Amino acid sequence: MRHSCRYCFTNQKGLIMDRDAFFNSMWNQYIQVTPQAQSILNLFQSRGETVINDHVAFRTFDIQGFDLNRASELLMTIGYEAFDQYTFPDKHLRAKAYAVPNDSDAPKIFFSELICSELDHDAQAIIHEVTSTLEGELTLSDLTGLYPFNKPTSGQYQILANASEYAGWLSTMGYQANHFTVSINHLKSFESIDDVIALLESNHFALNTVGGVLKGTADDCLVQASTIADKIPCTFADGVEEMIPSCFYEFAQRFTDPSGELFQGFVPNNANAIFESTDRQ
Ligand code: NI
Repeated sequence: MRHSCRYCFTNQKGLIMDRDAFFNSMWNQYIQVTPQAQSILNLFQSRGETVINDHVAFRTFDIQGFDLNRASELLMTIGYEAFDQYTFPDKHLRAKAYAVPNDSDAPKIFFSELICSELDHDAQAIIHEVTSTLEGELTLSDLTGLYPFNKPTSGQYQILANASEYAGWLSTMGYQANHFTVSINHLKSFESIDDVIALLESNHFALNTVGGVLKGTADDCLVQASTIADKIPCTFADGVEEMIPSCFYEFAQRFTDPSGELFQGFVPNNANAIFESTDRQ
């Protein structure tokens, strides 16, 4: 049957991936490991709000075929183009921002990669072992929650997470969306991010306080806040079971830039603090 709509694109394997189906699949996986996100969504909906997603974020290792270059190719199959890039030297990360040209309703995508060669030898050896199962190239199914790695042992996880919280998280959670983001600009009954934070605090959701609950200022054109990641049980390769950080929910309010356009990019200083929402507490 011929399938045509403006959200559909054919990928290299000839399969059709619909952008809405992609986001629905990711969201369904995300709430399995992030029940707080569904609770917070319910809270907004009970106030008559329709929640619009500002962006989702993904993480990867800079392994050829699974790196940011591959992510760019893959995201192009569902209409996305990179429009900005960022570096996070103290976390050994680089990232790109993606949007769908001429479709401001499509959520943006923030995709980061770990520069593995900047970690110590032990951490690199563990990443090598954990990723030894990877075959072919990064796919959209990987991003919707298929766990692609060799599980680390609990000891390897500790060493890896001590070297890089980001690497520890990625080794246990895979490529699934790391967070979804409530667009505060689209809420009708909340004047600003402060009102949203007050609601979250009064409902006892734990917020990331790195550098303060509010990340950024109106002068940066982007103010953000995030929860602390939920915790889920993980059975490591050695049979040890531990609670590990899963995913978190983010909140973003955007402001007009000097040209009068609503700012669409990201602010490295904010993102640097938000990465820590998945740190082991
Ligand atoms: Ni974000």
